[in-house]
Amino acid sequence: MRIYQESDYEAMSRRAANLISAEVIRNPACVLGLATGSTPVGTYKQLAVWSQKGDFSFKEVTTVNLDEYKGLAPTHDQSYRYFMQANFFDHIDIDAAKTHIPDGLAADPGAECARYDELIRSLGYADLQLLGLGHNGHIGFNEPCDNFVKATHVIDLAESTIAANARFFSSADDVPRQALTMGIGCIMAARRVLLIASGADKADAVYNAFCGPITPFCPASILQLHNDMVLVGDKAALSKLV
Ligand code: F6R
Repeated sequence: MRIYQESDYEAMSRRAANLISAEVIRNPACVLGLATGSTPVGTYKQLAVWSQKGDFSFKEVTTVNLDEYKGLAPTHDQSYRYFMQANFFDHIDIDAAKTHIPDGLAADPGAECARYDELIRSLGYADLQLLGLGHNGHIGFNEPCDNFVKATHVIDLAESTIAANARFFSSADDVPRQALTMGIGCIMAARRVLLIASGADKADAVYNAFCGPITPFCPASILQLHNDMVLVGDKAALSKLV
């Protein structure tokens, strides 16, 4: 595993953007696995600035997002489709048809999960998968439980996740209780995994993920077994690693 310890959120974002842009420059038709949440916002902003300058292009890139809330329309301002458009896709030259996110409104969510798994498999899996990290060790919306779930699936969100995400909604009651999430199988099948973490409140989660036992009760701990794992964090988030 390679670890980059950066001074602060801005430096973490620049480093992550650097690694992602290197992938796009090396392989302009790469498949990028993408995450939402507050951690990657700066990374997306930096990537948009560099690509607008003409340093590289997203025209041939395909993206697959980790997850989507069940029941939210793409036009809902808290849906992950909306987030990706507002924070990234609307600012780069990517082909909209090459951006993929699970359909939160699918009439048959189980069938949608199977379709999404098959799509990622048919793309040959992600060349680089960007991940944030939940306080409880979740990646995507793979919440702590007693087994690692390989396939894309519908998940009941943990109470701590609902509480953490309530900041984006008018109240905790408005946070959807379920989501469709890529499973551990597709995440681990990515050729490279890039996990970013920022802030002292993530220090325990980072420690548990990378120094604790490999257990589904801390889903990110499976990443210890990935053979091209890159961790980029700011000092505060990595403070318990040393
Ligand atoms: C969202 C996702 C989640 C977040 C995690 C951290 O697509 O995959 O696992 O990465 O909840 O969220 P933030 O970055 O808001 O702390």
